[in-house]
Amino acid sequence: MSWKTLDDMDLAGKTVLVRVDINVPVKDGVVTDATRIERIVPTIKDILAKGGKPVMLAHFGRPKGKPVPEMSLRITVPTLEEKLGQSVTFVETPSREALDALPADAVVLVENTRFTPMETDNDPKMAQFLASLGDVYCNDAFSAAHRAHASTEGVAKLLPNCAGRLMAQELGALESALGKPERPVVAVVGGAKVSTKLDLLGNLIEKVDHLVIGGGMANTFLVAKGVEIGTSLAERDMADTAKAILEKAEGTGCTIHLPVDIVVAAEFAAGAANEVLPVDQCPADKMILDAGPATVEALKGVFAQCKTLIWNGPLGAFEIEPFHTGTFDAALAAAALTADGKLKTVAGGGDTVSALNKSGAAKDFTYISTAGGAFLEWMEGKELPGVAALG
Ligand code: 3PG
Ligand code: MG
Repeated sequence: MSWKTLDDMDLAGKTVLVRVDINVPVKDGVVTDATRIERIVPTIKDILAKGGKPVMLAHFGRPKGKPVPEMSLRITVPTLEEKLGQSVTFVETPSREALDALPADAVVLVENTRFTPMETDNDPKMAQFLASLGDVYCNDAFSAAHRAHASTEGVAKLLPNCAGRLMAQELGALESALGKPERPVVAVVGGAKVSTKLDLLGNLIEKVDHLVIGGGMANTFLVAKGVEIGTSLAERDMADTAKAILEKAEGTGCTIHLPVDIVVAAEFAAGAANEVLPVDQCPADKMILDAGPATVEALKGVFAQCKTLIWNGPLGAFEIEPFHTGTFDAALAAAALTADGKLKTVAGGGDTVSALNKSGAAKDFTYISTAGGAFLEWMEGKELPGVAALG
């Protein structure tokens, strides 16, 4: 790791541009999950403690390069003030003079960086303008680090820079789960499509000892193995790719775990009549909506043998009851092993974190990432431009 942290920087009397990710869910003008805001508090406080003036840069939604009133970051100010315990100065159009005129202990939030196309274009003129606003750049937005934008990548190269506390924590957690993990390592990968997770699976079979495949993706692997899956969601045209992954895994010594039993129903609906069947007995008019109890038992056995677990994607249609059962039970088993000090557990991705929170497993997980896309790209073994630009 070639980047610096806040500990390495002299911030006294300096204006510190700090890229944060406060792209939080909002309903009716109110922040409904403040996790991302809570997680940047240590960085802002440490900058203040070191005598720096934090000027937060952030995006919000995808306004496509023009001002969209509903995507103003102003909406986040009350929550930021509550979590920071101090007032936040909101600035629509920043200038160095205006920032310098603010008190030394001010905390500033600049309007949505994506209100101009120059941000996502990573336009050097925008990077230069941002650099002119501050003396130091601190990136605390791991969850936006997969974007090579002016505020995440371009500006980093123009100023002395460092990683914020959250960024350092996220990278440390991922490194200990997949970079230099304690073995054996198990990865749980779920979700709908193999096609969106090909790079991920390809990278994981080289790095982990056990790979658990769940959700709609597992159905595609079952098709590859010649198992009938009825009306289940699957990418039948990806069966050959799935087969190639299974073959490659044999060569890398990675054991792939697919469901051994399934929960099937005639329709994708909450409370739909359902039954548990062996994996090869799916009726032609039914669909697989969850992993069955024998699968979960088998996974518990795998988890118990492992020292490290990394999780991205649910095992079933967890958003509708009772098809959350497989995901929740497996997550709770991982959480219990973690609480006993036997397993290190790291998870990321919007759906995954929501499932872990709903199941009650999240509180015992070793680390829950704030990132979705960036977590996935990191797991795929890709270099994140926002991280690469530091140092
Ligand atoms: C996220 O919410 O995943 C990050 O803030 C990145 O947002 P983006 O996918 O719009 O770049
Ligand atoms: Mg996203």
